[in-house]
Amino acid sequence: MKFCSIALIPGDGIGRDVTAAAWTVLETAAKHCGFGLTGTEFPWSCRFFKETGRMMPEDGIETLRGFDAILLGAVGWPAEVPDSVSLHGLLLPIRKAFVQYANTRPHRLLPGVTGPLRAESFDILCIRENTEGEYSGAGGRVHQGTLDEVAVETSIFTRAGVERILRFGFEQARTRRGKLASVTKSNAQKYSMVFWDEITRKLAAEYSDVEVTSYHVDALAARMIMAPESLDVIAASNLFGDILTDIGAAIQGGLGYAASANINPDRSAPSMFEPVHGSAPDIAHLGIANPIATIWSGAMMLDHLGEKDAAGRVMKAIEATTARGLGTIAGKDSTNTITAAVIAALN
Ligand code: IPM
Ligand code: MN
Repeated sequence: MKFCSIALIPGDGIGRDVTAAAWTVLETAAKHCGFGLTGTEFPWSCRFFKETGRMMPEDGIETLRGFDAILLGAVGWPAEVPDSVSLHGLLLPIRKAFVQYANTRPHRLLPGVTGPLRAESFDILCIRENTEGEYSGAGGRVHQGTLDEVAVETSIFTRAGVERILRFGFEQARTRRGKLASVTKSNAQKYSMVFWDEITRKLAAEYSDVEVTSYHVDALAARMIMAPESLDVIAASNLFGDILTDIGAAIQGGLGYAASANINPDRSAPSMFEPVHGSAPDIAHLGIANPIATIWSGAMMLDHLGEKDAAGRVMKAIEATTARGLGTIAGKDSTNTITAAVIAALN
């Protein structure tokens, strides 16, 4: 029997609840489809930081490298550890070290879920660059604490980095409705985004079967709300993609449904799957976190591991659950009720 080894990083707050929930669903799906999942849990989190002074051990990346994939809940407990410390100690280094350059986020309405828009039939796949751009981490502060203080944060766009994310977007568009929105801001950012546009045009010649349109990020943000059905695949830089995918989450009914895959397309290191939402300290431990975003991310993980049948079954079970009205109103159904309904639908 085939076994996939999964590193589980529940992290903080509701991350713990939703990871546990998703794991039981994934194990059930694996059993039905004749393969095994072995989960190894790592307690890396803000609590771990308080105990050890680090978000993960020094050899954490090397430890994770041996796994087939990583399932992560959420990271952050700002009352005790500043977000800038916790995220740069765990989530962001994993994305970079494992070259998970394609952060893939689907936005569509699940059956039974009412979004805030009139539009009901949109199906967007946002591809967010995940290793460089505005999140490069290059910068510094000088004259700290004085009136002359300066903070500099430099975006870094490399040809290799821009080309590979746009190529990934074009490839995804080919497998869908053949449309790519390339997100720019070249009217204001005259180096990085002009560069981005040039590479978009260069690749467009190679992918003549894909209809590519460049949109300024502000206009695209509006389009996602006014005409989401006109969009298919969106390819965006790290920060633009971060912001646009929160809009995507909002129009699909909320962060409780927003799934995400940090993909290393070359498979030179494990990919990581996580909901878009954070640790939600305000509802942590109340047992009301919606596990659907994490279960959906888990389905993306099964798909990435080559278990298409199991992935499809998990998606169908999610849809059957929300179609019954379970998990469709924030806080109404408990994490356990929703999880049990998804498992019942799988069976
Ligand atoms: C996300 C999150 C992260 C990001 C934060 C927590 C650093 O907002 O995955 O969208 O900005 O990438
Ligand atoms: Mn975000």
